[in-house]
Amino acid sequence: MTNLRIPGPTPVPPDVLEAGARPMIDHRGRVFADILNRVTDRLKYFFQTKNDVYLLTCSGTGGMEAAVVNTLSPGDSVLVISIGAFGDRFATIAETYGAKVTRLNFEWGTAADPEEVRKALAADPAIKAVLVTHNETSTGVTNPLADIARVVREFDKLLLVDAVSSLGSIPFYTDDWGVDFAVTASQKGWMVPPGLAMVSLSQRAWDAYAQAKVPRFSLDVGKSKDYLGRGQTPWTPPVSVVFAMDYALEHLQREGLENIFARHQRIGDLTRRGVKELGLQLLADERVASNTVTAVKMPEGVEVKALRNLVEDEYDTVLAGGQGPLQGKIFRIGHLGAVTEGDIRSCLDVLSKALPRLGFAIPTGRSGG
Ligand SMILES: Cc1ncc(COP(=O)(O)O)c(C=O)c1O
Repeated sequence: MTNLRIPGPTPVPPDVLEAGARPMIDHRGRVFADILNRVTDRLKYFFQTKNDVYLLTCSGTGGMEAAVVNTLSPGDSVLVISIGAFGDRFATIAETYGAKVTRLNFEWGTAADPEEVRKALAADPAIKAVLVTHNETSTGVTNPLADIARVVREFDKLLLVDAVSSLGSIPFYTDDWGVDFAVTASQKGWMVPPGLAMVSLSQRAWDAYAQAKVPRFSLDVGKSKDYLGRGQTPWTPPVSVVFAMDYALEHLQREGLENIFARHQRIGDLTRRGVKELGLQLLADERVASNTVTAVKMPEGVEVKALRNLVEDEYDTVLAGGQGPLQGKIFRIGHLGAVTEGDIRSCLDVLSKALPRLGFAIPTGRSGG
């Protein structure tokens, strides 16, 4: 089977795929209501929240857009913390809907500094909300969200978090950290096909919702709330994806959050160690390196495209490239969701074979495994 080592869509285990292949049912009927209630209840555990979790029929970007349109009004000042492509996307979405965006950018490959967040909030009391990426998939860096959230709470601002590639894989505590709007998506750590964004709102977010003037319709979470009370979604949901999610959550719950976090930590460590043993360099400082995706600097003289094509064509392994300014400079190994040590060892083994064919000399005595 293909070793799909991109940070989403992640591999979907055959039994989860099969669960998604059930015949259609009435999405406004009792059977679907039972499934929806079970899925959204289980998601509360993974979000670590007492609040309801809603399913939106869109990808993660739609979930980010939902955070903006449901809490902001045109002209609102917001602070967007960006450490890469997805932080930049959050800023663009907020600007698209008329927010006055202050961008707090950090060098790609580094994490945000909570002290700088404090300075930015102190400098502009008009800021209403802080938007931040928890795990920056484009650079393989995890932001110190607990610390950032503490600062945001000090200033009593709304905290909207893109947790698309972190929630359900690495520690994320919605209520304890005081995250007001959390967003994730089905094709990441959940080992489910794409098609669903999952979001939760705090009471503070609902208070903002009541005041928010950005136009909204299909992403209006108020409608999701009304319909969830009836065991429905406002619009036709991706029924097959919900079936798959129902099944996957049962498995994930059996594994348990702490075990899932420990597995991702172990696999992240294994990936970083293996990459370094091959004589390659990590993009991120290991103290902030992500346990769901690893960004690797491309060695001098080897083309990312050539490496990705070679490993896909001859070793049935798929790697991700770089985005934006990192295009052609890094490749990325995804390791979230249904991933085992064996998948990573196999990927490292493939790299140890493919890189020398492209002219990169692996240090002698290094196995890569
Ligand atoms: C951190 C992060 N945010 C947002 C997104 C966007 O999600 P989607 O591609 O599902 O719209 C992704 C997906 O790659 C992501 O990794």
